Amino acid sequence: MGKALEGVKILDMTHVQSGPTCTQLLAWFGADVIKVERPGVGDATRGQLRDIPDVDSLYFTMLNHNKRSVTLNTKADKGKEIFVKLIKECDVMVENFAPGALDRMGFSWERIQEINPRMIYASIKGFGPGEFEDCKVYENVAQCAGGSASTTGMRDGVPIVTGAQIGDSGTGLHLALGIVTALFHREKSGRGQRVECAMQDGVLNLCRVKLRDQQRLQHGPLKEYSQHGEGIPFGDATPRAGNDSGGGQPGRILKCKGWETDPDAYTYFITQAAVWKNVCDVIGKPEWKEHADYAKPEARLTRLNEIFGVIEDWTMTKTKFEVMEICNPLNIPVGPILSMKEIAADRSLRKTGTVVEVDHPERGPYLSVGNPIKLSDSPADVERSPLLGEHTDEILRDVLGMNEDEIVAAKAEGAV
Ligand code: COA
Repeated sequence: MGKALEGVKILDMTHVQSGPTCTQLLAWFGADVIKVERPGVGDATRGQLRDIPDVDSLYFTMLNHNKRSVTLNTKADKGKEIFVKLIKECDVMVENFAPGALDRMGFSWERIQEINPRMIYASIKGFGPGEFEDCKVYENVAQCAGGSASTTGMRDGVPIVTGAQIGDSGTGLHLALGIVTALFHREKSGRGQRVECAMQDGVLNLCRVKLRDQQRLQHGPLKEYSQHGEGIPFGDATPRAGNDSGGGQPGRILKCKGWETDPDAYTYFITQAAVWKNVCDVIGKPEWKEHADYAKPEARLTRLNEIFGVIEDWTMTKTKFEVMEICNPLNIPVGPILSMKEIAADRSLRKTGTVVEVDHPERGPYLSVGNPIKLSDSPADVERSPLLGEHTDEILRDVLGMNEDEIVAAKAEGAV
C-alpha cells in the first residue's frame, strides 16, 4: 500500500520555517513536494546559522526533508511559462512570502484558479486582513501579537517568548490541516480553494486558555494562579502565570538533586486533587491528608508556596528521573525537565523515529526530528533535504515533459 498522500503534487514556494514545516509534513505523508527556489540563491535558510562553511545549514536541512528542489526564476518570462506548467500539474500550492509578493509576480489567486481550477492555494501570512495585513512577520512577532508573550514569564517580570516555535512551526501545522481538509473537500466539490493561516491566529489558537482566563477574570480572581494564594490582586488582563499549571491543578517546577550544577535538574510536579493523599505520603506529610488546612484543594490554594516548598525539600533529595519512578506508579503527574542533550540521546524517541539520524552528502550525519504524527499504514521515512536545484532537470523532464533542448534553452535564459 502506498503512502497516505501518494499522488498529491505540492508546488512548494515556501521559505524560512513556517511554510517549510507544513510542506515537510505533507512530504512525510507521501506527497511529492517540489520546492521552487530562486536560481543561485535558494531558500535563505540554506545559508543561515551555518555550522559548516558552504554547506546547507541545519536550519534548512531539518525543515526540508523528503522534498525535491527545482530552481526557477518566477519573475523572468521563461520562468513564468514554466511556473504556469507547474501550476497546471500540481494539486496544491503553498507559499509564505511577504504579503503581495505572489501578486507582484503576476500570480494572484484569481489567475491561479484560471490556470488550474482544482488548485488548492495555501498561504501563511503574519496577520489576517486588517490593520497589520501588510507586515512582514517572524516567529517572535507572532508570539507577541498572538497573546503568548503577555501571558508567559513570571508575574513581576517582562513578557517572555517561548522556545517552542508556535508562530512558525505551529502555523505550519495549522496550514497542513487546512490543506488536507481542502483536498478532502475537493473530492466532493471537484474544485480547489484558498487556505489561509495567519501566524497571529495560529498563536492565539494555541493560547486559547488565556483568552478563557481573560473572561473568567470579570467574575473574580483566577484562584488557581499562585498570585491569588499570595494575596496579590489581579489587574484587568490575564497575567503571566510563571510555571503555574494552566488546568486548575496547582503545579510548579521544582529543584531536584544536582540542581546546583545542572541547569536542567528540575521536575514539574502537579498536586492533582485526586492523588493528594499519595502526594502527602510521598513527601512524608501523612498528617496533611486529613488536616483542615491541607485536605481540600480550596484550603490549599493560599498555602501553595508552603506546600511546594515542602515538596521541593523532597524532590531535592532525588534525581528528576527518580521523582518520575516514584510518582508515576502513584499517578502523581510529574515530568523531568529534559535538556536537548538528553532528548538527542533518548532511546525511546530514537526507536519511534521522532529523533532520527539522517545522512547528508555534504555535511555527513546529523540528527533531526522526524514526523511526530504516526500513521500505521503510512510510515514516514525521513530522507535528506535536497541540494539547491538538485532535481531541476528531473522535474522539468518528468513532471513537465520538457525535452533536453528545451531544458538547455531554459538554462541559457537563466530561467532555471
Ligand atoms: N524567483 C524570483 N523571485 C522570487 C522567487 C523566485 N523563485 N522566490 C522568491 N522571490 C522573490 C519574491 O517574489 C519577493 O520579491 P518582491 O519583494 O519583489 O515581491 C522576494 O523574493 C522576497 O520575498 P519575501 O517573502 O518578501 O522575503 P523576505 O526575506 O523579505 O521576508 C518574511 C521574509 C518571512 C518576513 C516574509 O516572507 C513574510 O512575512 N512571510 C509571511 C509570514 C511568514 O511566513 N513568516 C515566518 C517565516 S518563518
